[in-house]
Amino acid sequence: MNLLIKNANIIDCCHSFFGDVYIENGKIKEIGIELTKQCQVIDAKGLTLLPTFIDTHVHFREPGFTYKEDIQSGSKAAVKGGFTGVNLMANTNPICSTKEVLEYVYEKAAKVGIADIHQCVSITKDFDGKTIDHLKVFGDEVKAISDDGKGVVDSRVMMEAMKIAKEKDWIIISHAENHEFSDIDMRLAENMMTWRDLTLAKVTGCKLHMAHVSTKEAIKYIIEAKEEGVNVTSEVTPHHIALDDEISNYRVNPPIRTKEDVNFLIRAIAQGNVDVIGTDHAPHSEEDKAKGAPGMTGIELAFPICYTKLVKENIITLNRLSEMMSSKPAELLGMNKGKIAPGYDGDIVLVDLDKKITVNSEDLVSKGKNTPFVGWEFYGDIILTVKEGRIVYTK
Ligand code: DOR
Repeated sequence: MNLLIKNANIIDCCHSFFGDVYIENGKIKEIGIELTKQCQVIDAKGLTLLPTFIDTHVHFREPGFTYKEDIQSGSKAAVKGGFTGVNLMANTNPICSTKEVLEYVYEKAAKVGIADIHQCVSITKDFDGKTIDHLKVFGDEVKAISDDGKGVVDSRVMMEAMKIAKEKDWIIISHAENHEFSDIDMRLAENMMTWRDLTLAKVTGCKLHMAHVSTKEAIKYIIEAKEEGVNVTSEVTPHHIALDDEISNYRVNPPIRTKEDVNFLIRAIAQGNVDVIGTDHAPHSEEDKAKGAPGMTGIELAFPICYTKLVKENIITLNRLSEMMSSKPAELLGMNKGKIAPGYDGDIVLVDLDKKITVNSEDLVSKGKNTPFVGWEFYGDIILTVKEGRIVYTK
């Protein structure tokens, strides 16, 4: 697919310039000024062109919970939010512990075809917390394994899984929640598990990705571990930046934390100690939310929330946000995306940074309308999303 985008304010992790981007056969071919090509041309005057966003943490609920979301509705939500790469968690039904489920997801994702999908395999079989024999059958088709939604309480099991991950060059994605403490102290539950996983990663040498980091202590442990050379990356969600427990008690795991935690997370982002923004897009039906299901739909609002809270408020530059939402997650997941440079996939998003949006859950294309941000106003409207030179979303 060939496409020329002209007159854009072009930003990625490492560059800012004004001009044109030409995509040929699905890849970025040329960046310049006053380019002319025989192909579809889009005038992006007044708009900002970024590499599309890549999400390390998403729940598309298929198979099993398709009344909450499915690969098609989730992919549509993703591209509406400016994402063309997502990493799906394994807490489906059945849980993704077998080749059959993995293949089913990949087949469906290929049919839908508007976003590149990686599906995590569970660390323990069916999240039983103890069995890891199922990992034997998987190889390079897997990049990351996780019991996200639950967490692996048994430290010996986690250590053995990390050894396997090291051998197979997989990332362990840690849902740091020690369930033995969840009912009494969710802070302790996160902090203890974070410290344990960092310690085990140090011993085993595996690649560790800490999902949805939400406490001041957990971030501190991660910073220390990085300094000691542990192969760890950290992920923060938009909602743990935008909300604190004085303004919202919306049910989500990990919970909305204190103002002090939020300020600490934001400082860590500013200092370069957070690697990626992951949405933890967790769509639920109204009935399931009423029964207490944790989580919120997030992928459509992630950029406006982060842009408003982090860039508009002068905490970080748009280049740094692009790094956390595009180049770093792409690098982590081994996707040839996330930068505006020749040879990269022609995956770009056009945004109107000056345009204010007001969140209305009925505007969301995700099946999950569960968001505490209804009525909130954010800057940064997603206008157009392109995957490998093909327009996959227009406003
Ligand atoms: O709030 C959450 N919801 N946190 C998780 O870790 C899982 C997710 C879900 O699957 O609904």
